[in-house]
Amino acid sequence: MTGSWINACGTEDIEAEDVIRFDHEGRTYALYRTEDDRYFATAGLCTHESVHLSSGLVMGTIIECPKHNGRFDFTSGKAKGAPVCVDIVTYPVKVESDRVYVLVDA
Ligand code: FES
Repeated sequence: MTGSWINACGTEDIEAEDVIRFDHEGRTYALYRTEDDRYFATAGLCTHESVHLSSGLVMGTIIECPKHNGRFDFTSGKAKGAPVCVDIVTYPVKVESDRVYVLVDA
């Protein structure tokens, strides 16, 4: 994947087992931290009806959409529960010096 690493937030800006919204150049993303302090990123909007997943609920590696309770595995992007049937895009993440970087499309 080509793109740019974007300094998105500090590691402590996301609670363990939680999600935050990150916007960059007109696009929106969701950043996740697992209970064991791994970080992941997906597109910010649910593939069902474009609702911000940052308002959803993180359970393990699952994000549950706040609108109709559809589910994705945010580590793979796989749709895991109706009514979502389209996987969500994921983005590579790295942590350096307590900062979370996301590799976004060029
Ligand atoms: S908008 Fe996310 S499940 Fe419907």
